[in-house]
Amino acid sequence: MRFGVLTGGGDCPGLNAAIRAVVRRAHASDHETVGIQDGWKGLRDDALIPLGPKEVEGIVGRGGTILGSSRTQPFANAEDATRVLATIDRRGLDVVVAIGGDDTLSAALELHRRGRRVVGVPKTMDNDVRGTDWTFGFSSASAVAVDALERLRDTAGSHHRAIVLEVMGRHAGWVALATGLAGGADATLLPEAPYDEAALLGHVRAAIAARGHAVIVASEGIDLGPRRGSVGAKDDYGHEILAGREVGRELARRIEAALGVETRSAQIGHIQRGGPPDLFDRLLATRLGAGAVDLAVAGKFGHVAVLRGASIVGIPLEEAVGPPRTVSPDWLDLLRTFDA
Ligand code: F6P
Repeated sequence: MRFGVLTGGGDCPGLNAAIRAVVRRAHASDHETVGIQDGWKGLRDDALIPLGPKEVEGIVGRGGTILGSSRTQPFANAEDATRVLATIDRRGLDVVVAIGGDDTLSAALELHRRGRRVVGVPKTMDNDVRGTDWTFGFSSASAVAVDALERLRDTAGSHHRAIVLEVMGRHAGWVALATGLAGGADATLLPEAPYDEAALLGHVRAAIAARGHAVIVASEGIDLGPRRGSVGAKDDYGHEILAGREVGRELARRIEAALGVETRSAQIGHIQRGGPPDLFDRLLATRLGAGAVDLAVAGKFGHVAVLRGASIVGIPLEEAVGPPRTVSPDWLDLLRTFDA
């Protein structure tokens, strides 16, 4: 078979490891591979590049994606959809391997429904894809946020301040949860828990009383009420660009106004998405990339490789798309144990 490989949506550490695994696994059983540039846009615009064992040499530990990515929605209109299908047919792609989050996998499902062969690989630093226990990118991105929190704690301590760290994650709080738990935040705010200003101020007050400074983690997706509305710029899939709401900055303003404690904020944004994948993400990306090829070889088109417990299994794309997989109550309960 001739596999066409694409990476769609926001990039994250581990994409290159997954691309490499697809290529190496396919070639190990004498299949061919070709790269599709910039996600679905590459199929729409017929932008294919050579992608064989030589092209994936030395990329297992490299951040970003050698194929490029975009948030292009291929089925946004009839003309684009026709062009995507025509590229697949004209270029003789027997299978499309779509590596991406919910948006990319939803488009993969649509492609499957339109009669083309496709398999999926879930990825996202947000860790919010349904049907899989973890996504690659999440561990590496969260480790960057933990490092940022520790740096902020140093300077908060020197200046007897409170500092709010705003992290990405969209409408799931996994990155904030991991950062708060692993970095020892005095308070951690997730979209899954209603905003409680009195509780937040209580935690900050307790931390200041105990050690003279406080560090707070806030997910970009928290809802601070009518003062910070949900109206903002949108991407191609209609998702609001949440960073523009600057919830970290707003929280810092509120803490300072209520407690009289000098408060700063930091929004680390795309710093979380760059850099090399950690060990966990390299291994998971490698297993999922190979797993997707195995699904295709087994004729399981319209499926996505996912992590269930310690195993890689295939599930129908339908089960992986839909509303985000959010932080579960047991994690929230654990998190509350560590508030100041
Ligand atoms: O989905 C990954 C993610 O990094 C989100 O956490 C964030 O809200 C969004 O992408 C940012 O998107 P962009 O790179 O388009 O600004």
